[in-house]
Amino acid sequence: MNPPETPSGKGKAVSVKPQTVLVVGPTGNVGPHALAQLLEAGVAARALVPPGDPAVARIPDGTEVFEGDLADPESLVPALDGVTGVFLMWPFFTLDVSTAPAVLEVISRYTGRVVFVSSIGVHIGLEPVDNNCHAYLEQQIEKAGLTWTFLQTTGFACNALGWAGQLDGGDVVRFPYGGAVRTPVHEADLAAVGVRALTEDGHENRRYVVTGPEPLSQAEQLRIIGAAAGRELAWAEVAHDAARQAMVGAGWPPAYADGALEYFATLVEAPETRTDTVAEVLGRPARTFRDWAEEHADRFRRGAA
Ligand SMILES: NC(=O)c1ccc[n+]([C@@H]2O[C@H](COP(=O)([O-])OP(=O)(O)OC[C@H]3O[C@@H](n4cnc5c(N)ncnc54)[C@H](OP(=O)(O)O)[C@@H]3O)[C@@H](O)[C@H]2O)c1
Repeated sequence: MNPPETPSGKGKAVSVKPQTVLVVGPTGNVGPHALAQLLEAGVAARALVPPGDPAVARIPDGTEVFEGDLADPESLVPALDGVTGVFLMWPFFTLDVSTAPAVLEVISRYTGRVVFVSSIGVHIGLEPVDNNCHAYLEQQIEKAGLTWTFLQTTGFACNALGWAGQLDGGDVVRFPYGGAVRTPVHEADLAAVGVRALTEDGHENRRYVVTGPEPLSQAEQLRIIGAAAGRELAWAEVAHDAARQAMVGAGWPPAYADGALEYFATLVEAPETRTDTVAEVLGRPARTFRDWAEEHADRFRRGAA
């Protein structure tokens, strides 16, 4: 994990009121960074974990841990009592979990302030409200009368960890659309933008499109990982239909798999656009994919598994 960042207050009023922030989704890729950064900023940090969650080891010391289930909105009450803001992740692909409006109503009883990790798919119109959680959640958060900041994020750098299993058995990654150019964002930078939005004034009701600093094709990302891990790695293209079959077989909802693959197909011809949001909000350059690869090189070294 990267060193946490404290708010600089660069040109903005920093609230001096004591703050308590609940992180919903604390054991994923973003949540542990958000908690560490909140604690470093002197904010009381709380984590909501599903009952019996085995992943609590990822939660930094000093965090107050509460059990609660997003499928059971009233179970969030103890975690929310006394908070000044919520760093919200909605960990469901589809609208099958229909408790979002009730969860937002419970949140609004305790605080008016929410930062939500959304998706760049909403920004580019790829994700219609009726079958996608990010677009739907944005709509419901606005409807609930909360003061929000939406982090419409591109793909995380850590999505590349999805290739690690293949690389344990050889030097080739078999995956679709090696030429698709994205702008991967370091999870710690995304968390830092969210923490700033919750702890500084001036980020209210803003949609931030959050990307990394450089457009990189998937094959280029793999080359960077190889350089960091001291290996020569190769990309082997998997056809669209075969990839779809594999994704659906691995549990992706078919509509979501189609959306992702169609988006990747477009990115071969028209690279994803990078933004300067991270640098503008944090007052320093965004971390590069090379930074991320060097931090995670051990996982990609030969014999790492
Ligand atoms: N990866 C990307 O490229 C990308 C791109 C755009 C947007 N996003 C968004 O980014 C968000 C954060 O991603 P992430 O990778 O940090 O997190 P994640 O892997 O989606 O983790 C989800 C978190 O939610 C918790 N959770 C799951 N079910 C729950 C329930 N019923 N009640 C309460 N908590 C529950 C998980 O706990 P357990 O560990 O116990 O399951 C975990 O802490 C995602 O939700 C996604 O919407 C991701």
